Amino acid sequence: MKDTYYNMDCIAGAKAHIPDGVVDLVITDPPFAIEGDQLHRLYNRKEEHVVEGYVEVSRENYRDFSFRWMEQAKRVLKDTGCMYIVSGWTNLLDILLAIEHNGLEVINHIIWKYSFGVSTKNKFVTSHYHILYCKKSGCDVKFNPYCRFGAAEKDQEGSSMLYCDLEDVWVIGREYKKGRIRNKNELPVELLKKMILYSSEEGDLVCDFFLGSFSSAKVARSLGRYSTGFEINESAYLQQVGHISNIERGWMLAGLRSNEGNPHFNQRKRWTKEEMGSVVERYHNIKRTGVTDRQAYAILSQEFGRGYFSMMNIIKKSKSARSPY
Ligand SMILES: C[S@@+](CC[C@H](N)C(=O)[O-])C[C@H]1O[C@@H](n2cnc3c(N)ncnc32)[C@H](O)[C@@H]1O
Repeated sequence: MKDTYYNMDCIAGAKAHIPDGVVDLVITDPPFAIEGDQLHRLYNRKEEHVVEGYVEVSRENYRDFSFRWMEQAKRVLKDTGCMYIVSGWTNLLDILLAIEHNGLEVINHIIWKYSFGVSTKNKFVTSHYHILYCKKSGCDVKFNPYCRFGAAEKDQEGSSMLYCDLEDVWVIGREYKKGRIRNKNELPVELLKKMILYSSEEGDLVCDFFLGSFSSAKVARSLGRYSTGFEINESAYLQQVGHISNIERGWMLAGLRSNEGNPHFNQRKRWTKEEMGSVVERYHNIKRTGVTDRQAYAILSQEFGRGYFSMMNIIKKSKSARSPY
């Protein structure tokens, strides 16, 4: 399932191929039920550069469809996993109802502000999408607050770069690459990078129920993650599936900006067996002092300069596998 992609309906596909609770992060950008297969009539772009066969969902079926794909997305998520759902405003109500119906909790309602380049004469120009950042109710999810900026970093005006990056309005431009074959509504790399860095770690599994141009899978691989997902449109699937394995896993990690002041100073370094062994040994020593597991993970995180959830995973793995380290 890791790095395997399926040319099929995501609901049937998830049931057939993805077991319960194995996915660390779902990033997904479903069709919006706004006649997305006809949008070229409104947009100023050359259709010969757009992959054919975009599959839209009818307005009448959208609520039921949203309820059903989200049920599967929740099932495949780990308890520590989270989900980013990109939605337009037109049928946002159905997405919000599906979140509630499936017992998911919205952590943040993010506004992604971009510039569309479409002119209007008698109304305002739509220039945002909604991103519902959700988790399973009552669960603690992975979140790496210092993955991009350190606590002490300031911009030229003296404002905290970390604070700005953590705000729930994201201003990220769309990518218009002249002459390149692309999927309708391809998400920008910067947007995907932000979600993946904040909400997963190297080696994690990212799942996209609506792959389109495989943009999420490509960025996940470039950041050292694994991915899986579904695309029902055969042309889009065949156009992209062969390219993924040509991407060197983790090549983007080296180019990430430094984040001075990050207490998780080792976060981006690869784990060695020796380091894992030291974490497990230290955990047992700390536990002898009578602290809870949560307190122990927090201490380990501070001492080893890595995230709380990395610590928890190493300890859980060492217990379940009775591993040698
Ligand atoms: C908004 S686009 C996703 C674009 C993608 N995020 C990207 O960056 O290229 C939605 C995609 O879902 C696909 N799709 C529609 N219904 C589907 C289904 N039931 N299962 C899987 N894919 C589906 C469409 O063909 C389309 O490519």
